[in-house]
Amino acid sequence: MSPITLITGAAGGLGQAVVARFADIGHTIVAVDLNSDALAACADRHRAGPGGIHVMPADLTDPGAIVDLGDRVHREVGAVDNLLNIAGYLHRGAMADTDVDTWGRTLDVNVTAPFLLTKAFRDDLRTTPRGRIVNCSSISATVGYPLPAYAASKAALSSLTRSLLFDFWGTNTTVNAVAPGAMRTPMVDIANEDKMVAKTPAGRIVTPEDVAATIAFLASDDARGINGTTVTIDGGATAIFSYAQP
Ligand SMILES: NC(=O)c1ccc[n+]([C@@H]2O[C@H](COP(=O)([O-])OP(=O)(O)OC[C@H]3O[C@@H](n4cnc5c(N)ncnc54)[C@H](O)[C@@H]3O)[C@@H](O)[C@H]2O)c1
Repeated sequence: MSPITLITGAAGGLGQAVVARFADIGHTIVAVDLNSDALAACADRHRAGPGGIHVMPADLTDPGAIVDLGDRVHREVGAVDNLLNIAGYLHRGAMADTDVDTWGRTLDVNVTAPFLLTKAFRDDLRTTPRGRIVNCSSISATVGYPLPAYAASKAALSSLTRSLLFDFWGTNTTVNAVAPGAMRTPMVDIANEDKMVAKTPAGRIVTPEDVAATIAFLASDDARGINGTTVTIDGGATAIFSYAQP
C-alpha cells in the first residue's frame, strides 16, 4: 500500500511542486488548501498518479475545520504517514501596518494550524512504521526581517518543530522543517530578483522544485537520522556576511 501524505497549501506555488514530487514517487496524496478552485486544478493534473489524490478544501484558521478534516481523512482515505505543513500566510507590512487581527491570522495559519494538524494526526503518526512531519519555516525565522508578524510566526514554527520531538519520542516518526529563501511563487512579488541573486552565493534564487526535493529527502528512509532540524534552502544567502563585495 502506498504511503498516505497530507499536504497543506497544496494549491500554492511550493505546494504544487510538493504534490508533483510525492505523486511521482507513488504516494497517495491528501491535498488541502483554502483555494478550492486552484486545488481542483492541481488535482486534475495529478489524479492519474499511481497513488491517487484526494482533494479536501479547508480553512486552516478554523480549529473546527481541522477536526472535521481529520475525521474525513480517516473515513475516506486512512491513517496518515506523512504530514507536510506547507500552507502559509504573509502580510506585507511593517509593525505600524500590522493590526492585531493580521498578527493573529499570521500566527493562525503559520503556527497554530501545524500544531492542530499534528494533534489531529498524532495517533496515526505515532503508530505508522515510518512517519514524517515536515513544516515549512523560512529564512526570516533566523534573521532580522522587515515583516515582523511573518518572521515571528516562522521562528515559532521552527521552535514547535523541535518541541514536538517529545510527542514522538521512541517512534519511527521524525519532525523537521525547511527554511526556504525567496522563491518565485504567488506569495512573493520578486521584482528585484537581480538584487537577490547578487546576495546569493549560488548565483540564483532557489525554486519550489529545489525545496520540494529537500522535503522529499526528509520524508525518505535515507533521512531517518535527521530529527528536530530546520534545513535552510537559500543558495547560501543567509550563511554569509561580509563588508566586502564578491
Ligand atoms: N515564496 C517564498 O519566497 C517563500 C520563502 C520562504 C518560505 N515560504 C513558505 O512556503 C510556503 C508556501 O508558500 P508559497 O510561496 O507557495 O506561497 P503561495 O501563496 O503560493 O501558497 C500558500 C498557500 O497556502 C494557502 N493558505 C493560506 N491560508 C490558508 C488557510 N487559512 N487555510 C488553508 N490554506 C491556506 C493558500 O491558499 C496558498 O495556496 C509557505 O509556508 C510560505 O510561508 C515561501
